[in-house]
Amino acid sequence: MTTTATKPDFYSVINERHSVKKYDASHKMTKEEIHQLLEDSQKAPSAWNLQHWKFLVLESDEAKAKALPIAYGQQQVADASIVVCILADTEANKNADPVFEEAVQKGYMPREVKDSLIQQIEGAYTIPDMGKDQALMNSSLSAMQLMLVAKGMGYDTCAMGGFDRQKMTEEFHIPSRYIPTMLISVGKAAEAAYPSTRFQVEDVTIWETF
Ligand SMILES: Cc1cc2nc3c(=O)[nH]c(=O)nc-3n(C[C@H](O)[C@H](O)[C@H](O)COP(=O)(O)O)c2cc1C
Repeated sequence: MTTTATKPDFYSVINERHSVKKYDASHKMTKEEIHQLLEDSQKAPSAWNLQHWKFLVLESDEAKAKALPIAYGQQQVADASIVVCILADTEANKNADPVFEEAVQKGYMPREVKDSLIQQIEGAYTIPDMGKDQALMNSSLSAMQLMLVAKGMGYDTCAMGGFDRQKMTEEFHIPSRYIPTMLISVGKAAEAAYPSTRFQVEDVTIWETF
């Protein structure tokens, strides 16, 4: 984040993030805030740094109204300030050249390393389902980061997997390279999230081996 205003600490962000469904429909995020949100979400890690995602931002009332029935009428889609559709990039191997070339130009990576990494990636991407698996795994990290960054900025979010991917693709002309995986509403909470529970650490932890 780039501003110096007081920010909640990391543990407040992770403890207070919950899926908010009721938003102040009159609240607008500024373009600078949206840019900051996406810039900080973009810092998520990814395999080979291929950054296997795009953010399709629905900001206008018209775009959100189009997405509302696609998300089966989930009202947060209409009332949030923005809805970000996470697009998983199934051809992120194509990002290798621009990503590594910049690293070479900046002196972060010798050119031989770039060439060898590209060979490695192209080899890996011949494995069946590799492009899709990598896209789903890595783009989810950017989605999580986006929800935490939003909370850090004083906004709330709700991830939504409940939407018609085919209709989303058609309505917003999403190229076949990308899979729309998640919608994330971002806005000012009008009502607190429902409380949620988690398994105990013991329930989800396996030490050493099954
Ligand atoms: C991938 C994913 C898909 C989800 N889909 C929906 C959804 O379609 N609609 C909804 O209201 N909440 C959805 N949620 C929110 C979850 O129900 C919520 O994260 C979970 O119950 C835990 O609550 P919390 O986020 O408030 O801690 C989704 C969450 C994730 C991570």
